[in-house]
Amino acid sequence: MPTLNGRKALITGASRGIGRAIAEAFAREGAALALIATALEKTNETAQRCKEIGAPKVMQFALDVRSSAECDRVIKEATAGLDGIDIVVNNAGVTKDNLLMRLTDQDYDAVLDTNLRGAFNITRAACRPLMKSKAGRLINIASVVGMTGNAGQANYAASKGGLIAFTKSVAKELSGRGVTANVIAPGFIETDMTAGLDPKVKEGVLKEILLGRLGKPEDIAAAAAYLASDAAGYITAQVLVVDGGLTA
Ligand SMILES: NC(=O)c1ccc[n+]([C@@H]2O[C@H](COP(=O)([O-])OP(=O)(O)OC[C@H]3O[C@@H](n4cnc5c(N)ncnc54)[C@H](O)[C@@H]3O)[C@@H](O)[C@H]2O)c1
Repeated sequence: MPTLNGRKALITGASRGIGRAIAEAFAREGAALALIATALEKTNETAQRCKEIGAPKVMQFALDVRSSAECDRVIKEATAGLDGIDIVVNNAGVTKDNLLMRLTDQDYDAVLDTNLRGAFNITRAACRPLMKSKAGRLINIASVVGMTGNAGQANYAASKGGLIAFTKSVAKELSGRGVTANVIAPGFIETDMTAGLDPKVKEGVLKEILLGRLGKPEDIAAAAAYLASDAAGYITAQVLVVDGGLTA
């Protein structure tokens, strides 16, 4: 039996990588979908794949999650179009890496605005439909560096550490309405975000991964599908690390 039959899920950053894999996994489990990316056409391929998999309904939205007004508008439209929202996945994220001494105001703000402010914008806008749902689920995609820190990623690590604290706070606020809020903290996943990294850096990371391989978007999608399902109904305010043992 598909585990998300009748559920409606909204996913940010659904154009590629982890967001696309989550959309496909949810489609496989029978969820209707609202796919968000910065431009409408960017979600075309994901939408097509999800329809082929059998998602009962797929909506597409162009949205920059940094704009709270736009987030309010899109959440309203998605809620009306899908007749509610049960699952929200804040997956949109960016990196602008540099050593602290060279980290510019612009690059610090850009990363915090998208990764942390963006998740706040979406979550605040989606509060009401989540509380109305019989099985409201918030799933925020952070990173292991939000717990460990990382040289050259002070802005990114701060945004992801903030996202973890934000999610735990939301879990406490919305628990009375039966909404769970959890974080997935991926390790090193092969996507566009990590494609440009120096092969030597990748080799170094690989040596640290207990399971001996880099992660795939599907590894994160499987965890998201689990947290969205009834099987995870008693799990909230948690950080699920999916890193192949990188940080063990
Ligand atoms: N790839 C990894 O190793 C890794 C590790 C840990 C955490 N993560 C996190 O997982 C999430 C997905 O990463 P990915 O590797 O698939 O990256 P990616 O670069 O392939 O995809 C990022 C997605 O976010 C969207 N996005 C960026 N800025 C946006 C904005 N302002 N408004 C709306 N959408 C926006 C992009 O369009 C894209 O769809 C991110 O939050 C990232 O920080 C990735």
